Amino acid sequence: MCKCGKAHSQKPGSCQLNCIRHLCDLKISMKIGTKFIHAGVEPDPYTGAIMTPIYQTSTYVQEAPAKHKGYEYARSQNPTRTALEAAFAAIENAKHGLAFSSGVAATDAVIKLLQPGDEVIAGSDMYGGTYRMFTRIYSKFNIRFHYVNMQDANNIKEYINSNTKLIWTETPTNPLMNITDIAAVAAIAKQNKIMLCVDNTFASPYLQNPLDLGADLVMHSVTKYVGGHSDVIQGCLMMNDDQLREQLYFIQKSTGAVPGPMDCFLVLRGIKTLHVRMQRHCENGKKIAHHLRDHDKVARVYWCGFEDHPNYQIAKKQMRDFGGMMSFTLKNDSVAEAKRVLSSTKLFALAESLGGVESLINHPATMTHASIPQEERIKNGLTDSLIRLSVGIEDVDDLIEDLNQAIG
Ligand SMILES: Cc1ncc(COP(=O)(O)O)c(C=O)c1O
Repeated sequence: MCKCGKAHSQKPGSCQLNCIRHLCDLKISMKIGTKFIHAGVEPDPYTGAIMTPIYQTSTYVQEAPAKHKGYEYARSQNPTRTALEAAFAAIENAKHGLAFSSGVAATDAVIKLLQPGDEVIAGSDMYGGTYRMFTRIYSKFNIRFHYVNMQDANNIKEYINSNTKLIWTETPTNPLMNITDIAAVAAIAKQNKIMLCVDNTFASPYLQNPLDLGADLVMHSVTKYVGGHSDVIQGCLMMNDDQLREQLYFIQKSTGAVPGPMDCFLVLRGIKTLHVRMQRHCENGKKIAHHLRDHDKVARVYWCGFEDHPNYQIAKKQMRDFGGMMSFTLKNDSVAEAKRVLSSTKLFALAESLGGVESLINHPATMTHASIPQEERIKNGLTDSLIRLSVGIEDVDDLIEDLNQAIG
């Protein structure tokens, strides 16, 4: 979609919309690095500014009632957001993108597609905030959630019934780095006419494109790799189906969880370096995962790039590389020792979140996943002593030295 609010002609050179470039045509052939830099962005039609301006406005002047330039009120449309939504679509090979004020707001919009009595099959290992929304907000509206280990796609079959309307999966999962076979789950979903939504936050659109594998919807916490600089909270949804886009756009404007134009600008800028950042996240992640695995005080490392990871072959098939997220446990498997390590790193900052250029260390049991009851967490393998790393793009030797001095 162009800034003028209309679709380009798909025939090179034939577009009558007075746009400076015809990126819709280019989208078909652009390689990933080119696409991330140019995706969705047109020079500003008024000035030619190469960077999309921050349209810091709440409303738009109309020439006569209902006679306007496609923008009425900024909850419904904003030109900075329009450019970002086109970029979101392009980076996930989708027809449509929608931007939300946070990742959970994007998830919330998906659940609002459902009716009381509907059922959802969700992964048993996922971001604690998603679990909290499902169990504490939507269960009381009579939506039923089944939490299933999706490492084997067939596990979902026994939970499917005529009320099942949505399958929700995260892959790789937060924080145990389990892998779901997206194509296999998509095939089961299609057979049973169930919508499949993939939370692609951990992989980022650089590593994995779920719509290409048969998913109906992709969700990102843009706060993480897509934004990439730990300076924005945002979420997004990408989809191909026009009707689904209209339903979600209606929810977006009716319930109002839209991002501001400044945040949209920051994410547009972040996307331009996503491929370069991800390449370094992957390189550093690989070195650190192997270093930790060889460390005599480390018991287990959870990273989907190890050849003996239970779903390594699936990860290899559906991802371009394995990313910079991992978790580990210590041989001295006590919560006190884990907390000592968590408080001892100097470069790895102890903080929630992930996917930024700087490395973070996190204690899922008390931080990102504290909202999951302990019994439920431990049943799914998330122990109280698990440590999660978001490996940044610093010099990897410095990161290894920092982990060594912290582990001792
Ligand atoms: C995998 C995953 N999905 C969704 C979210 C929620 O996103 P946000 O914090 O942007 O609302 C997070 C946040 O940590 C996450 O890690």
